[in-house]
Amino acid sequence: MSKVTVVGAGAVGASCAEYIAIKNFASEVVLVDIKEGLAEGKAMDLMQTATLNGFDTKITGVTGDYSKTANSQVAVITSGIPRKPGMTREELVGVNAGIVKSVVDNLVKYSPNVIIVVVSNPMDTMAYLTQKISGLPSNRVIGMGGALDSARFRYRLAEALEVPASDVDGMVIAAHSDTGMLPLISRATYRGIAVTEFLSEEKVNYVIEETKVGGATLTKLLGTSAWYAPGAAVSTLVQSIVCDQKKLIPCSVMLNGEYGQSDICLGAPVIIGKDGVEQIIDLQLEGAEAEKFAASAAAVREVNKDLKL
Ligand code: LAC
Repeated sequence: MSKVTVVGAGAVGASCAEYIAIKNFASEVVLVDIKEGLAEGKAMDLMQTATLNGFDTKITGVTGDYSKTANSQVAVITSGIPRKPGMTREELVGVNAGIVKSVVDNLVKYSPNVIIVVVSNPMDTMAYLTQKISGLPSNRVIGMGGALDSARFRYRLAEALEVPASDVDGMVIAAHSDTGMLPLISRATYRGIAVTEFLSEEKVNYVIEETKVGGATLTKLLGTSAWYAPGAAVSTLVQSIVCDQKKLIPCSVMLNGEYGQSDICLGAPVIIGKDGVEQIIDLQLEGAEAEKFAASAAAVREVNKDLKL
């Protein structure tokens, strides 16, 4: 019996619910929203795709009634305001911190052993807030940024190499922000061969820069933040937990000495299984990559100060 709660029935939350259902690994998804009827409506619309898409996951929607989320194995928080064109994720901190706090209190009240996946922005700071206020052990709070950013990195690498994205591997670590993201180009490969063997310096720089502003590019095109890839990234994380897949997925986790950082949630490669964060891979970064990771951490610490914990 695997029950997953998704809080926020906006575009990102509904996309999470849809991909979780389509992948058919959870028995139940509960969609929660504060807007009267929205979660119920999206849940019903999604349930009417069950016979068309061939899934057995039961999706229900509720307006603010967290008792219906009781005993969730995993809860995904997408609540809060999304960014508008020209805004950074960090500008959302004040409003979204208040929203995330009340959501976390409600989730933990009904599911004391839940694993929380944080999507709300600024994601690393919201994951840190969740860690601080939930009382959950650090393996039970995961920020999803790196999973999404790594998918966007692979998309840009595939585009530059003119090969299928599934033949390309690469990870993005550090902060989920336009300036703080660290696409690990030195370790990105095309079928095990360093991508730098195929790409000019100019193309490498293009891939890195386009990956970092991946979310902003979409926000400009769409007028609000993206939802398909965020939803798919979340479903990958949730599946690795529910099915105990132990996949290596970059995501934002509480660091305790790894990468020379402590008391901060930041993106790193993590083995994700039934206990949530099962192992953090502490890569020994060198040169510019080490410097960029440290600078990214310093910037997230500045945003975290706004939490007034
Ligand atoms: C993005 C949002 C989810 O990067 O942060 O699309």
